[in-house]
Amino acid sequence: MSDVFASGMMSAGWAWYVAILTVVSLLACIWILRANRVKKVEHTDEPHLHGENAWDGLREFDNPLPKWWANLFYITVFFAFGYLLLYPGLIVFPGLLKWSTASLYADEVKQANAETDPIFNAYLKQDVKTVAADKGALQIGGRLFQTYCVQCHGTDMRGSKGFPNLVDNDWLYAGTPEGIKTTIMEGRNGVMPAFAEQLKPDQIADAAQYVLSLSGRSTSAESAARGDATFKTICAACHGADGKGNPALGAPNLTDNVWLYGGSVATITETITKGRQGKMPAHKDLLGEPRVHLLAAYVYAQSQEQGAGK
Ligand code: HEC
Ligand code: HEC
Repeated sequence: MSDVFASGMMSAGWAWYVAILTVVSLLACIWILRANRVKKVEHTDEPHLHGENAWDGLREFDNPLPKWWANLFYITVFFAFGYLLLYPGLIVFPGLLKWSTASLYADEVKQANAETDPIFNAYLKQDVKTVAADKGALQIGGRLFQTYCVQCHGTDMRGSKGFPNLVDNDWLYAGTPEGIKTTIMEGRNGVMPAFAEQLKPDQIADAAQYVLSLSGRSTSAESAARGDATFKTICAACHGADGKGNPALGAPNLTDNVWLYGGSVATITETITKGRQGKMPAHKDLLGEPRVHLLAAYVYAQSQEQGAGK
């Protein structure tokens, strides 16, 4: 029930209000049934009439409900109490059976895990690179990838703007089997600061030209030369003096013409002006180490296969 409140579906105050209203109405049902229990009237000439009700010669007797009829009412009310006692119908009381759809789901997950855990744990005992050579493991890894990773990295693993291509063998962070596993387990947070305050627009333009020159695409040699100084004093701290990046920070290699956000003048200028904050979520709590282990093997194997020669 705390889940209900935590999820904001209902506040505790409203839950109590509804619960009390429910119990009070059930009790009221019993009271009404009992209060209206009157003696059966003999059909004499002077009957107990219900008020003055007579209509076209038809008179309404003030008779009790037939017993079986009243008992049906009692049964439904007692059924309701029994149900609310066993199941979480009142929200504020989880019910004696502690039944919930969440626990039902948890049980199913537990059952499924009991079947797959031995398989996954066996792979966990091997290192990622060994697992990456195992066809069966890669099939499982591929399915996990299609379930948990494609919304950001794409079904073909080639990513999109801001979401890195995982199969070009060009890595922001360590592309070793263990490095990939660390990325998936712990997540990564790339922080490219915004330089709108620190640098003037023409300094940013020069820095952008310098960045372009690193992949041989500068359109103004003088501007790029001016950007060189800015790069060495500010940007080199993260991207390296040669612009080849730093996998410890996730600072991209700026010389290889492979872009996370885009390599046009406009996009590079925007990157420098506004900064970028790429976030790869941590998956260790969501998936657990054995699954992450298989995913790392899958990503590594795919990057080796598809990125070969790069
Ligand atoms: C919510 C989007 C999102 C999901 C889901 C996601 N990723 Fe990522 N991933 C990112 C982003 C963004 C980055 C780049 C982080 C950065 O810019 O520093 C990244 C980076 C990575 C990297 C590092 C790439 C490199 O060049 O070093 C790997 C490996 C990776 N993800 C694998 C996975 C796997 C495997 C999954 C599925 C379990 C996954 N990701 C799920 C967004 C996501
Ligand atoms: C504090 C470290 C740091 C500094 C200083 C820094 N960068 Fe970055 N830069 C990064 C990181 C980390 C990323 C990747 C951001 C992400 O993953 O979202 C990045 C991304 C970029 C990109 C995008 C590359 C792509 O593939 O789309 C460009 C361009 C860039 N930086 C240029 C510069 C320039 C020019 C400077 C100096 C004015 C600079 N950076 C200073 C850390 C830094």
